[in-house]
Amino acid sequence: MKIKTIFLLANGSSILLMTTFLIISYFYMILSVSMIGWLSLLTVLSAFISFLVYYLLTSPVERSIKRLAEEAHHISENDFGTKIPEEGPVEIRSLTHQFNGMSTRLSQSFQALQKAEQSRRELVANISHDLRTPMASIRAFIQAIQDGVVEDPKSKAQYMRTISLEVERLDQMIQQLFELSVYDSGTMQLHKEWTALDQWLLEVMEHKRFILEEQHREVHIDFPERVKEVYMDGEKMKRVLVNLLDNALRHSEARTDIRIRIRQQDRFIFIEVEDQGEGISQEHLPHIFDRTYRVEASRNQKYAGTGLGLAIARHIVEAHEGKIFAASELGTGSTFTIQLPREGKGVTSG
Ligand SMILES: Nc1ncnc2c1ncn2[C@@H]1O[C@H](COP(=O)(O)OP(=O)(O)OP(=O)(O)O)[C@@H](O)[C@H]1O
Ligand SMILES: [Mg+2]
Repeated sequence: MKIKTIFLLANGSSILLMTTFLIISYFYMILSVSMIGWLSLLTVLSAFISFLVYYLLTSPVERSIKRLAEEAHHISENDFGTKIPEEGPVEIRSLTHQFNGMSTRLSQSFQALQKAEQSRRELVANISHDLRTPMASIRAFIQAIQDGVVEDPKSKAQYMRTISLEVERLDQMIQQLFELSVYDSGTMQLHKEWTALDQWLLEVMEHKRFILEEQHREVHIDFPERVKEVYMDGEKMKRVLVNLLDNALRHSEARTDIRIRIRQQDRFIFIEVEDQGEGISQEHLPHIFDRTYRVEASRNQKYAGTGLGLAIARHIVEAHEGKIFAASELGTGSTFTIQLPREGKGVTSG
């Protein structure tokens, strides 16, 4: 039954009661005939007026409810965004207000879901493509060895080295994907402790010693004495710095220098990695932390990465309530900065 019909029936029933009273008065002679006449006239008149008033008062309520129903139907078809005017009695206005708020929040969640789904699809497509490339080259090299295309030991060794590099690349990709899935599932656990930065830095440099020597690179480290310890997950933060160093090495010429600068400002530690490489254009700069995003030039490099390194780095830094950002000039070089709170949340200085 329509809400308007219910209100009109309620009104009708009170008029019916009045009419019954008048009929009873007539039969039992409780009131005089002229009085009953007047009262009947008044009843008819008041019935007409009250029906009109009820009709006018219930119309906005009915309209609002109708709009709410229509909008709910739109939402069920993933069509968000229409705001319902807040009118009518207080309760209806409050209901409409809540409904509009709910619709906005639903729309935001839906957009976030769509974006996540889109990026998941892109990730799968890009990764499948990236996995196929090393696989194809491993297959081709093995085939060549099996078919006896390469006979001399020197070329064979060279082929084996390429296969081994490709396997390493596959292994790294799978590890990065696994890491991302752990972060996505929200199960990343940080083992934070007070970490001596000098020792931590030494371990990272040790990790890169071989390639630095191979490329005749100098890494300049500016490390003020007073910056000593940071409350962080040293192992995970090593992954971040190694990632930044890998990028700096990959995108700058051998023999050019790399600089690591550590400084403290207020309650933050800033770790900067600066290279004198190819740089990143302003057009690409805002996207480099997105998953699988690579500047077109790096996509074509022989041992290009997967474009996951910076996305992983951002996850780790943000889990430390920190930030990571980049500044770069095309042809001049790039500087990546990690900003970390020196003391994690709820930790007192040690
Ligand atoms: N120091 C840098 N100089 C120039 N370009 C850079 C630098 N660091 C990152 N980039 C650009 O940003 C992109 C994304 O970097 P990211 O580390 O996420 O991926 P990747 O290095 O390509 O692959 P991965 O780290 O997964 O092996 C790179 O492909 C590259 O185009
Ligand atoms: Mg990288």
